[in-house]
Amino acid sequence: MKVVIEGGGPLRGEITVPGDKSISHRALILGALAEGETEISGFLAGEDCLSTVDCLRKLGVEIAVQESTVRVAGVGLYGLREPSAILDCGNSGTTARLLLGVLAGQPFYTVLTGDSSLRQRPMSRVVEPLRRMGAAIWGRSQGKLLPLSVQGGGMRALEYVSPLASAQVKSAVLLAGLYAQGITAVREPEKSRDHSERMLAAFGAAIEVEGNLVRLQGQPRLQGQAVRVPGDISSAAFFLVAASIMPGSDLIVRNVGVNPTRTGVLDVLREMGAALELFNQRLESGEPVADIRVQSADLRGVEIGGEIIPRLIDELPILAVAAMFADGETCVRDAAELRVKETDRIEAVAKEFGKLGAAITPKADGFVVTGGRPLLAAATDSRGDHRIAMALSIAALAGKVRLTMDSAESVAISFPGFWQALHQGEISRLDFFQ
Ligand code: S3P
Repeated sequence: MKVVIEGGGPLRGEITVPGDKSISHRALILGALAEGETEISGFLAGEDCLSTVDCLRKLGVEIAVQESTVRVAGVGLYGLREPSAILDCGNSGTTARLLLGVLAGQPFYTVLTGDSSLRQRPMSRVVEPLRRMGAAIWGRSQGKLLPLSVQGGGMRALEYVSPLASAQVKSAVLLAGLYAQGITAVREPEKSRDHSERMLAAFGAAIEVEGNLVRLQGQPRLQGQAVRVPGDISSAAFFLVAASIMPGSDLIVRNVGVNPTRTGVLDVLREMGAALELFNQRLESGEPVADIRVQSADLRGVEIGGEIIPRLIDELPILAVAAMFADGETCVRDAAELRVKETDRIEAVAKEFGKLGAAITPKADGFVVTGGRPLLAAATDSRGDHRIAMALSIAALAGKVRLTMDSAESVAISFPGFWQALHQGEISRLDFFQ
C-alpha cells in the first residue's frame, strides 16, 4: 500500500496510543505458562503480537482475542504440546527470541521461522546460551538464522554474562530457566527493559534484581493474572516528537507506560528543550504509567550514546526527525544494534530521510543529523519497517511537504490505527493507493 501525505497542522487535544508491544507479548507467553486464566486488557492487537498468539495456539494454548481484551487459558509450565505445523513468527523478533527460550524447555520438537526480514536477523545471541542450558538447536549458518528447529528439555540452570544489553536475550534465558532446577542468572552490560522481570514476579516466580543482574528460581508455579497493558511509549514517541516540532501544538497522550528502562526518549527530548510534563503518575500491573502533556518548543541538537541507548533504541528513527528540526547537530553513537532491527535502521534513516532533504551522515554505530534544513517533496519507501514508516510521515507533516511512501501498511506491526490517528482532528491530509 502506498500513502500520500500532505503537510499538516498543529496537534491539539488528547489521544491514546495502542498497548505496549513488549508487555503484550510477555502477558501472552506467561499467561500460557501459568495455571488458570489470564485476562489481558489494553492488549496490542498488532501483527507482531498476533504472531505470538498464532504460535502459542499451535502449541496447544486456547487464546480468545476480542480487540484489546484477550483471555489466555493457561496450560501450566508443563502443558504445551508438540505442534504439528511450523511456527511462523512473521516480522517479530520478540516472538522468535522469547519463544526460543520457552521451546528450549519443552521435551518435544519444534520448527520456527519468520518473514524475509526476520530470517536475516541474528538468532545466535539466544541460541548460544540456550544450547549451554541443554537445548539442541539446528539451523542455517550453524543455527544463527531462522528457520530453526529445536529439540528442548533437560534444562540446566545457567549463570549467563550477556555481551549485549538485550531484553530479548535476557528474557529467553529466564524463560528457559523456568524449566531448570536451581537459579538461572543473567548479567547484562547495561540494563535493558525489565518487563519480563516485573511480570514474572507478578505471576508468582521468585526473582531478584540487583542492578544489571537478575536471578530466577527455576520450576515455580505461575498463577494466571489480570494484566493491564499501558500505552506503548514507543508509539507515543511519534506524537511527542510531532507535537514538539509543529508550532502551536498542545497535546496530551493519555495512559503511557513510563517504565524507567523505556523512558530514554523523554530524557533526550527534555535535553533537546522539549516541553514535556508527566502527570497522573500511577502503577498498573507492576508497571509505571502516566499521562504526558507536550507543547511545541524550539529544540537543540544533543549527543546520544552510552547507557541510555537500550532505553531508547526503538525511538532513534523518530529522534532523528526531532534532530532534523533542531538547531545544530545531533550525534548518535553506540547504537550498532540499529543495523539488525526490522531493517538496517542506520542506512534507512540516512537514505530515506535523505530523500526529504535531511542532512544525515551514517556512521558504523549511529548517525549525525544536522538540523534546520528545509525539507523537499519526496517519494520514499518504509522498507517494510513500521518505525521508519511512522517517522517518515511525521517528518513530512512537520516539514509541510508532500510525501509518497511505499509499504505504508507496515505500521500495523505495532500501531494498527496509525493512519487514522493522523487523520483525526484533521492533523493532515492522507490518500491511500493499493
Ligand atoms: C524488545 C527488546 C528490544 C527492542 C524490541 C523489543 C523486547 O530488542 O528493540 O523492539 O520486547 O524485549 P533487543 O532485546 O534486541 O534489544
